[in-house]
Amino acid sequence: MQFYLDSADFTEIQQAWELGILSGITTNPSLVAKTGEDFHSLIQRICDLVDAGICVNAEVLALDAEGMVREGEQLAAIHPNVVVKIPMTIAGVQAVKKLCQKGIRTNVTLVFTPVQALLAARAGASFVSPFLGRFDDIGEDGVAALEDICDVFIHYDISCKSIAASIRHPVHVLQAAQAGADIATIPFKVLEKLYEHPLTKQGVEKFCADWAKGKG
Ligand code: E4P
Repeated sequence: MQFYLDSADFTEIQQAWELGILSGITTNPSLVAKTGEDFHSLIQRICDLVDAGICVNAEVLALDAEGMVREGEQLAAIHPNVVVKIPMTIAGVQAVKKLCQKGIRTNVTLVFTPVQALLAARAGASFVSPFLGRFDDIGEDGVAALEDICDVFIHYDISCKSIAASIRHPVHVLQAAQAGADIATIPFKVLEKLYEHPLTKQGVEKFCADWAKGKG
């Protein structure tokens, strides 16, 4: 499973990029709005920071297919790393088809069911993003939905990749990996926690203390 960062905060993105484990970044309108930055300049800056081939996901705001295609083309023109995020609606899936025909990669977002994922994949989406946390929040099982999506994609040999999104804690990351997600997109605070274990900390402290004793 690959790791993406789920953030639009440039300082955070720089810090996470330095970790050396990222294969992509996902932004969304809420995250971008929080930064107060110009959307297209921010996407350009992120693309300039990361290596070639790293997916930088930028979401359209239009609600009609024509508008989504227009915005998608503008976003894709910013940099070859850009993947256009499109919401899982009828208009969204129509836009995916048109963007795919133009050779533009899309990530269908706000996916909650295997059938939604299948529709997006059949329209030509390169990625789908099942949201774990938001599904859990309404008493559903986000991980079970992700597992079902992974099973359906394997069953029909579908090349569309799954991005486990709306990740709230480290256990979600483990469950996404166990479900067979291709990618997990993770907020910075959760990403940092993945490195930690009390026994690792304790072990490092003991090695240092023993070394200092031996040398003394
Ligand atoms: C994914 O692409 C979305 O940006 C993200 O995972 C949404 O997560 P949230 O439910 O924590 O807002």
